[in-house]
Amino acid sequence: LNYQQTSFLTSAPDIKALPADNGIEVAFAGRSNAGKSSALNTLTRQNALARTSKTPGRTQLINTFTLAENKRLIDLPGYGFAKVPLAVKEKWQKSLSEYLEKRQSLKGLVVLMDIRHPLKDLDQQLIHWAVQSQLPVLILLTKADKLGPGARNKIVLEVRDAAMAFMGDVKVQAFSSLNKFGLPELEQTLDQWFND
Ligand code: GTP
Ligand code: MG
Repeated sequence: LNYQQTSFLTSAPDIKALPADNGIEVAFAGRSNAGKSSALNTLTRQNALARTSKTPGRTQLINTFTLAENKRLIDLPGYGFAKVPLAVKEKWQKSLSEYLEKRQSLKGLVVLMDIRHPLKDLDQQLIHWAVQSQLPVLILLTKADKLGPGARNKIVLEVRDAAMAFMGDVKVQAFSSLNKFGLPELEQTLDQWFND
């Protein structure tokens, strides 16, 4: 699969506005500011495909991208950001959970977490839900460039250890959009999910 050929498809405020639910979708989920949109841009080698921001809560819609015929990448709104108004928060959390629960074409979930703050409560709930739904999960520990190799490896091993408790198909990788660390492993997992 050639990830560079990814193009923007639609922004949907709720699941009714999404493209037809067929083919294969892989979604990027995680806390606000975890680096979801940046990881999509790194994967697709396009600086501005998905909007990124220093301000958490940038992605408020379900953004869909076409990778190939009937193969889509999805940038989900982040969760866990306290500073948005409750009404707004409830609206996106609703579209997020509806997407996860109802989307038939969803075949894999990339869960991104800042390597310095892994496995927060909502991350664990999401992974738990995915495992229950028999959805494979790839945990990307993002912003790995913020740590040296020793600290990075230590956290990867700790999170792998913790991930065993989910008792599902949960892989763990360090990742950096800044220096592309972990990009080949991300592509390998996505290739698998899209070709199954
Ligand atoms: P929401 O859309 O708000 O949920 O955020 P997001 O998860 O899409 O995060 P986004 O990609 O917008 O990145 C948030 C911030 O983290 C931006 O300032 C990015 O430049 C920064 N960032 C993302 N990835 C990396 C990384 O690998 N390394 C470093 N150092 N910074 C990163
Ligand atoms: Mg985003």
